[in-house]
Amino acid sequence: MFPLNAWYAVAWDVEVGRKLLSRTVCGRPVVLYRTQEGRAVALADTCWHRLVPLSMGSLHGDELQCGYHGIRYGADGRATHMPAQETINPSACVRSYPLVERHRYIWIWTGDPALAAPSLVPDLHWNDDPEWAGDGRTIHAECDYRLMDLTHETFLHGSSIGNAELNEVPFEVTHTDRTVTVSRWMYGIQAPPFWAAQLANRFPDYGGPVDRWQRITFEAPSTIRIDVGVAKAGTGAPEGDRSQGVNGYVLNALTPETDRTCHYFWAFARNYALGDQRITTQLREGVSGVFFEDETMLNAQQRAIEANPGYEFYNLNIDAGGMWARRLIQRMIDAETEGVGTAATEVARAGR
Ligand code: FES
Ligand SMILES: [Fe+2]
Repeated sequence: MFPLNAWYAVAWDVEVGRKLLSRTVCGRPVVLYRTQEGRAVALADTCWHRLVPLSMGSLHGDELQCGYHGIRYGADGRATHMPAQETINPSACVRSYPLVERHRYIWIWTGDPALAAPSLVPDLHWNDDPEWAGDGRTIHAECDYRLMDLTHETFLHGSSIGNAELNEVPFEVTHTDRTVTVSRWMYGIQAPPFWAAQLANRFPDYGGPVDRWQRITFEAPSTIRIDVGVAKAGTGAPEGDRSQGVNGYVLNALTPETDRTCHYFWAFARNYALGDQRITTQLREGVSGVFFEDETMLNAQQRAIEANPGYEFYNLNIDAGGMWARRLIQRMIDAETEGVGTAATEVARAGR
């Protein structure tokens, strides 16, 4: 259900420290901590000896000591100490996962470590770019990470960011082999409440119509960045001049926990009133309310899917982006299983 050869956000940078943090990613329990120098480490959360969670143990310098019989592991996962014996069994180790710390998240690579190129970490730089300000939170969603849906604002979020025009204007879907982009423009509309308030932060005297944009980019397998904003109508925003508007980025990293649950890391970054912490907090709380609407809907949908096994979804025009996203995820999964299939076939052939 998820590709393993991918970077997944496993935690906010601030969540990982000298206290052991246990988290499950793609069905794999991991324990996270930082070395004394501050480097983040992720080890399999399963002791080599009797399988107990290492997150129930303790840190000794950079080493993690199992809480049951005291085997110690280094940050590379190799056992460094065994109780009451001098020699260390050479097979004694737990898996150590490649990590990259970037854009306020710790990213974990769950697949083949040889393929873990840091250049493949999805770009969420708005999270720590000095030209942008914002904050976010994590939702623990009781749903398959692939249920994320890109085209539901009008109805689900009607009271905040939705407006009727969103569903009336044409949209454009483009894709590459790793991304799908859905974009649409609404010209000369009345700003919905959320955006009217944002525009007033920059242009308190303006009450006229706006041009609104929404450009949603999905990057396989599970990151979505949404470029959103409004500008005074007719001031050139569609042609690229956004100086008379306000711009935000909704950053989403959905990390599968199990087949039917996910860690949903989100943030909202803006490019105006950068020094105003009051606005950062207000926005985080406001957007939190919007995401709560998503969470409620996704959890209910997951329950309905489980109650209707084998149900094939019908698709509308608005699902074009989501269908492409699913296709890209499936391609990644197929590429991995084909690889395994080939290797298994070779082993079988060699054995013959
Ligand atoms: S279970 Fe970890 S040392 Fe025995
Ligand atoms: Fe939503």
